[in-house]
Amino acid sequence: MDLAQNYNYKIVKQFAIATVVWGIVGMLVGVIIAAQLAWPALNLDIPWLTYGRLRPLHTNAVIFAFGISGLFATSYYVVQRTCQVRLFSDKLAAFTFWGWQAVILSAVVTLPMGLTRGKEYAELEWPIALLIAVVWIAYAVVFFGTLLTRKVKHVYVANWFFAGYIIAVTILHVVNAAAMPATLFKSYSAYSGVQDAMIQWWYGHNAVGFILTAGYLGMVYYFIPKQAERPVYSYRLSIVHFWALIFTYMWAGPHHLHYTALPDWTQSIGMVFSLILLAPSWGGMINGIMTLSGAWHKLRTDPILKFMIVSLSFYGMATFEGPMMSIKTVNALSHYTDWGIAHVHGGALGWVGFITMGSIYYLLPRLAGQQKMYSTKLIDLHFWVATIGIVLYIAAMWIAGVMQGLMWRAVNPDGTLTYTFVEGVKATYPYYVVRFFGGLLYLSGMCVMGYNTWMTLRNRETAVARIPALAAGHA
Ligand code: HEM
Ligand code: HEM
Repeated sequence: MDLAQNYNYKIVKQFAIATVVWGIVGMLVGVIIAAQLAWPALNLDIPWLTYGRLRPLHTNAVIFAFGISGLFATSYYVVQRTCQVRLFSDKLAAFTFWGWQAVILSAVVTLPMGLTRGKEYAELEWPIALLIAVVWIAYAVVFFGTLLTRKVKHVYVANWFFAGYIIAVTILHVVNAAAMPATLFKSYSAYSGVQDAMIQWWYGHNAVGFILTAGYLGMVYYFIPKQAERPVYSYRLSIVHFWALIFTYMWAGPHHLHYTALPDWTQSIGMVFSLILLAPSWGGMINGIMTLSGAWHKLRTDPILKFMIVSLSFYGMATFEGPMMSIKTVNALSHYTDWGIAHVHGGALGWVGFITMGSIYYLLPRLAGQQKMYSTKLIDLHFWVATIGIVLYIAAMWIAGVMQGLMWRAVNPDGTLTYTFVEGVKATYPYYVVRFFGGLLYLSGMCVMGYNTWMTLRNRETAVARIPALAAGHA
């Protein structure tokens, strides 16, 4: 009997489609706010469309809607394939899908209304935060339940990364979201002053470490070997990578609070752990890239592999840049500038975006009962358009960021500032225009993916209509 018929692919497919749809939406909002920074009149004087409200909508849409839908899809697929059992509970899995869509839709409504807790990446007000906790616990039950009922003894390393991400996010979310509700849509953080800031950035940095990193490393360890048809370069290194990474990430949060009221020694701990973090990050990156040993030639013809390997290069770049930016004297220049935005989007577009797109391209034909995607040429086109988009985006923001930092700190011999703030804004203007076009290219690539996805799934409908057995068998 074909094992595939026993797996719950329906939920994987639902989340895969959600990833593509929310990717387009989230990136579109990114392009709109990028345009607003260059041409502020584009908010049309409508409160719902102001930058301050659309910016959190962008971050929530790309991280929680696009990013986490991708993680749901891939973790549900990988845990079934590597444990050789169907998901622990179909009903609970379906609940995670609809529950998560409800969270996203609540964000789409409340954020433009200006309802926010004001904590970055944790903006959603308490009733939605509660819903997130409930859906997440259901996710943990489905994932760990499947692991516990597995038919193979070994727990494959990709599952360790997914498991680490699921557990860490539960703890981070519950602790950081603790609040005293005042009304239905207003609450006050359970912490105050500098403790509140510390908890927030312990959460914020580990959202990067466990959502935007550990979860995607789960994809790396499953989909790269599969697509390259090679075993992981060093399985031993992957285990060391896992433990070193999760231990170190937890301590690095204070690098977001350099030169603040946070005690100096706490800032230094954050800096030291950030520097140490370079080692496990690069160990993992090298392990992923070396998995291609003996299969490098495939990069010439396989655009899915290109997405995956280039994503690891961006991962390496972001995890080199991050430790450098955590050095206090470097942070004195980079903080508050667009250098931070360059770092974020090197990681977000290059690493998170590309590994997700590569993995979803791997999954879609398998979910649609097809040999391959509707068009390989369109995958290649997506890859190149998106790569050029990233380069424009991050190069513009690097230059703008360093320029802003240098302009803000320049002083005349008499101690007065050389430049007014608005001169810095004026000098940044052309770079905002370049970033807008970079973003537009990246978004166009995502739309190409949307079209390719639509056609691939539509082909399945035709295939199913022609072969009734397919419709009956393939869940
Ligand atoms: C070794 C790994 C990394 C280290 C040590 C690190 C370090 C840093 C530092 C020092 C900042 C600037 C803090 C500030 O001045 O406010 C920062 C910001 C940020 N990094 Fe990283 N980074 C790493 C990897 C990554 C990766 C892989 C991503 C993935 C997307 C990422 C996403 C972010 C985000 C979203 C912010 C902005 C946070 C905010 O202010 O809203 N980082 N990181
Ligand atoms: C078409 C693609 C995208 C465009 C044009 C875009 C544009 C932007 C803009 C203009 C900002 C505000 C920058 C500022 O405040 O100065 C921003 C912030 C941010 N974006 Fe994007 N973005 C895109 C895709 C993504 C993706 C795919 C992710 C994550 C997976 C992401 C994550 C973030 C984060 C975390 C921030 C907040 C950074 C911080 O506070 O330091 N973006 N984006």
